Amino acid sequence: MAWADHPETLFDAAQRFVAARGVGTPDLAIILGSGLGSLADEVEDAVRIPYAEIPGFPRGAVSGHAKALVFGRLEGRSVLVFAGRSHYYEGGDPAVMKVPLGLLTRLGSPALLATNAAGSVNPVMAPGTVVAIADHVSLGAPNPLIGDVDERRFVPMAEAYDPALRARLQAAAAQAGLALPEGVYMWWSGPSFETPAEIRLAQVVGADLVGMSTVPEIIMARRLGLVAAALSIVTNYGTGMQVVAPNHMETKHVADAAAPRLKALVRAFLRETPLG
Ligand code: HPA
Repeated sequence: MAWADHPETLFDAAQRFVAARGVGTPDLAIILGSGLGSLADEVEDAVRIPYAEIPGFPRGAVSGHAKALVFGRLEGRSVLVFAGRSHYYEGGDPAVMKVPLGLLTRLGSPALLATNAAGSVNPVMAPGTVVAIADHVSLGAPNPLIGDVDERRFVPMAEAYDPALRARLQAAAAQAGLALPEGVYMWWSGPSFETPAEIRLAQVVGADLVGMSTVPEIIMARRLGLVAAALSIVTNYGTGMQVVAPNHMETKHVADAAAPRLKALVRAFLRETPLG
């Protein structure tokens, strides 16, 4: 499976399906990563649709990921929450999230905020820190646009993490009393964690964070004309930087513990900034 295996007709089919359940244009779309799913439970007047029911949506589950589309209100704004994502490592398809993103183009979502749990390779970004992604490095997995025949595949990546959205996230962080450092995220395919040598490589290339998601979503979002930003919760230091090697239980546990800060940031973002 690749880019061409998720045709744009599925964007329309997904849109028709969710519109019939009452899903309209959101002020903000949010992808929730590992341990962050509880924000979906706070959405008011929620319409909740399992991915398995929506045409073209990814199947399968990773523990810590609930996998449902939730549409409703937060802080008086209309939000569309992707509670759970599919990853490249699940089936080898880097374009596995193409239809959910394509749905956003059909719904007219003005902005996408992706979230994830990540490892830190920067000693000053300790576990528990929320980081705004400023840029990324993608060396370990194929580009999701491989197989796209449209000229728009040559998508510029200079400002992939939208500077205006990032500025608004900084303003929201200040309002919520949170520090929000910015960092470079390096995508590794997973599902194995990195080796100590790979973590040293990440440091050499200027990464601050390592993780197994988000990058293909941002590349596809840019290709589809969406405006996007991304936030990481640091759940651990990279392999070799801490005594106990990173593991999935720790990732979920620390993400759970730090989730209230990320939620406060998202709520402040929705409250404080003009959207749409
Ligand atoms: N490596 C890759 N992905 C991750 C990590 C990590 O250390 N922590 C959370 N997601």
